[in-house]
Amino acid sequence: MNVNSICCIGAGYVGGPTMAVIALKCPNIKVTVVDINKQRIAAWNHADLDQLPIYEPGLAEVVQEARGKNLFFSTDIDKAIDEAQMIFMAVNTPTKTHGEGKGFAADLTFVEKCARQIAEVANSDKIVIEKSTLPVRTAEKIKEVLSSNNKNVHFEVLSNPEFLAEGTAIENLFKSDRVLIGGDETPSGQEAVAALVSIYANWIPKGKILTTNVWSSELSKLASNAMLAQRISSINSLSALCEKTGADIEEVSSAIGMDSRIGPKFLKASVGFGGSCFQKDILNLVYLCRHYGLNEVAEYWHQVVKINDYQKNRFAKKIIAGLNGTVEQKKITLLGWAFKKDTNDSRESAAIYVADILLEEGAEVHIFDPMVKENRIHQDLTTLWEARNESIENIESKLKSCVVHIEHNGALEGSYAVAILTEWDEFKSYDWDSIADKMIKPAKVFDGRNIIESNEMVNQYFIGK
Ligand code: UDX
Ligand code: UDX
Repeated sequence: MNVNSICCIGAGYVGGPTMAVIALKCPNIKVTVVDINKQRIAAWNHADLDQLPIYEPGLAEVVQEARGKNLFFSTDIDKAIDEAQMIFMAVNTPTKTHGEGKGFAADLTFVEKCARQIAEVANSDKIVIEKSTLPVRTAEKIKEVLSSNNKNVHFEVLSNPEFLAEGTAIENLFKSDRVLIGGDETPSGQEAVAALVSIYANWIPKGKILTTNVWSSELSKLASNAMLAQRISSINSLSALCEKTGADIEEVSSAIGMDSRIGPKFLKASVGFGGSCFQKDILNLVYLCRHYGLNEVAEYWHQVVKINDYQKNRFAKKIIAGLNGTVEQKKITLLGWAFKKDTNDSRESAAIYVADILLEEGAEVHIFDPMVKENRIHQDLTTLWEARNESIENIESKLKSCVVHIEHNGALEGSYAVAILTEWDEFKSYDWDSIADKMIKPAKVFDGRNIIESNEMVNQYFIGK
């Protein structure tokens, strides 16, 4: 099958960069990215590349090269579906907030809506690809919805999970460790798999393109994220023990990471992992295990999320204890709001939970992040409080104590303590002597990422030291 037209529903952190790279690497394929969010599409089409909706190193250059040639962003979802031979679904699949599986299962409303729209609009055969991370056996449900099409159209459903990490998305897409494609073992299923393989083969070595059955592919995505997050929770659990015993987590991490069977990556102790995937995918895995009656397995993985909550909480408590047990009306500066450096994404960022605890204790929280804007920060907190059914008065009053700055000096002036929550490179180059001069003495720095060098002017608190 010769593919020359594809579309992607969902122009988010996954859909946008992935399609931009496919368009760049496959100049003969027309790639249309569609989204229900008009503002987001307008931003993708903005002449000024600084206005793209997603900050990701290298993304603007790729968009500049391909946009208007064979890469298009649009809100006309029906037209894009109709024209495409292959349709990627990259819509969000948040954790359910109500009903069966609340707090654990993935909410498939958007995925189902997309499948329904494809079923309604399609006039010719389509290959439908799950790009969003989905619970195992979702492909079956998608097929069921697609079968409502009565125009004698044939659909194949493939699973092709995305493994890119934000902040390095373009690099990860250019040089993927592997591309995973799951399809049915039927002849038409294998034909669809081959069609997708041929797209990636334009730039990914064949040996790195792995084909499996659909369920293995769906489960591998959840399992990869669970294994990565488990390493972070393991090292974070040990960081608590280091603080009690006098061992240094950086030293412990280096020592264990040098064992080639363990390896050095993903062993950096921190204030806790964030991002749209880890927590959601593990909870999803927990739900899946419980569904199959595997309660011990469910508990095992649930513990990874529980240790992460413990770590965020522990860090906030450490700040309060370091300020003589009270932060009431004290100015405290948070440096960093994004869940990691080099992204403007703050979904599930540890910063949200640390800020929440400090605000609850009556602190004046001042925030600076090089990429995350005030409205996003206030929205993150409001969403958390609304989910807890807090009153509007309470929310408004706490937001007044939460001041967002557009540069770091104002955020630091007159502050009792600084908490570093994201490992942005620029924080390392700050002049900590002059910062200490501006702060209330004794100036205290709680380094949630262990990035600041020792400095005599400030009292430093690290994770796991
Ligand atoms: C999301 C999921 O979080 C992740 O688990 C999955 O692997 C891929 O999709 P991401 O791209 O980071 O990742 O999400 P987001 O930035 O929220 O993008 C989703 C986009 O889909 C949004 O722009 C949203 O407007 C759009 N959307 C959602 C639709 O176009 N139609 C819908 O019905 C629902
Ligand atoms: C993750 C997976 O890495 C990626 O393969 C998948 O497609 C999506 O989910 P992402 O969430 O974008 O990617 O970022 P990642 O680099 O995995 O970091 C997640 C969180 O873990 C961040 O908050 C990061 O700061 C934290 N982290 C990471 C640590 O605390 N310590 C580490 O050693 C590594």
